[in-house]
Amino acid sequence: MKTVYLDNNASTHVHPLVLERYIACCRDLPGNPSSIHRSGRESRAALETAREQVACFCGCDPSEVIFTSGGTEGDNLALKGVAAASSRRGRHIITTAVEHPAVLASCLDLERQGYEITRLAVDLLGRLDTARLEDAITPGTVLISAMYANNETGVIFPVAEIGAIAARHRIPFHCDGVQAAGWLPLDCRSQGIGLLTLSGHKLHAPKGVGALVARKGVRLHPILHGGSQERNRRGGTENLSGIVALGAACDLVAASRTEESERVRRLRDKLEGGMLALWPGAAVNGHPTERLPNTANISFPGARVDTLLACLDLLGVAASSGAACSSGTVRHSPVLAAMGISPDVAAASLRFSLGRDTVEEDINYVLEILPGVRERLLAGGKLRGNDES
Ligand SMILES: Cc1ncc(COP(=O)(O)O)c(C=O)c1O
Repeated sequence: MKTVYLDNNASTHVHPLVLERYIACCRDLPGNPSSIHRSGRESRAALETAREQVACFCGCDPSEVIFTSGGTEGDNLALKGVAAASSRRGRHIITTAVEHPAVLASCLDLERQGYEITRLAVDLLGRLDTARLEDAITPGTVLISAMYANNETGVIFPVAEIGAIAARHRIPFHCDGVQAAGWLPLDCRSQGIGLLTLSGHKLHAPKGVGALVARKGVRLHPILHGGSQERNRRGGTENLSGIVALGAACDLVAASRTEESERVRRLRDKLEGGMLALWPGAAVNGHPTERLPNTANISFPGARVDTLLACLDLLGVAASSGAACSSGTVRHSPVLAAMGISPDVAAASLRFSLGRDTVEEDINYVLEILPGVRERLLAGGKLRGNDES
């Protein structure tokens, strides 16, 4: 059976060249990067090469790169690390209502410790109004945390504008760049980003590795205590093979980012246009253009997300929902809810996220099977509403 993987915002395939580097590192570099013998020094050299690759990828100095276990740790370290280091100066953090749970749950934890959190609202298209950000700043604000692009809708925030506002008020700006890094230009220096989260498995590197950039001058306390690795900012023996793979992935992604973004945007637009034409009333959630080129979040009126996902899965198509399903109940996407999208529309919305492996035949296949999926749901009484009449 044909398989079509359209869930790249959840995780990407490890690129063959990245895998090669990963395996070679596992095989050839047994030393601990902190050891002083030759084997340790070889591992250290590989670690520092990867650090340079990551720094080059995001426009910062290598000394500003802290390797982590992924996006969740990076977000936790940014939020909790800055909060802990700044608690004497102030206890107010500004974020947005549509951040990844790694940011939102860290904020909740800080709230329990007495920090005040402002969660900025977004509009119906998922956009952030930066005037509201400026209004929310108080003398006690110690951090602004806003994502570059949303994981569910792909909607892009005006990162350079946020960075400029933060710089004007001398407040560090943390940007969760996990989803954007594969597709959009990234430059901490010119975008005013003080802290940047990256995750390897969204960039064709393995799962369980990532990085947090913390620019010079940003005060950060570690949250993982242990050895003096990562300049005392993150204890624990480094995941060397994962880090080497992340460095290689950064080089690969940077080399093809512009062309791939354009290629994938064309495919995404074809998919979106086809789905809207094939499914009466279908609509895109999120801004029509200020969006990642690979992401389509589409509502299919009448459908139930879990049934539609299962039908697509049976036909070899992997997509995802923003709604988490547990014990028969569907918890609606907090992102779509924050945009003011009704629970009914949210409950019928799926995310398709394309990747570097996606080709035109994949899109053609999905558009070919969609009418049959709809007919099957209709015949089985699994499509609510009367949009067919
Ligand atoms: C925007 C965003 N931030 C953070 C994360 C967490 O990354 P990881 O899976 O590496 O912990 C994700 C993962 O989906 C994400 O989409």
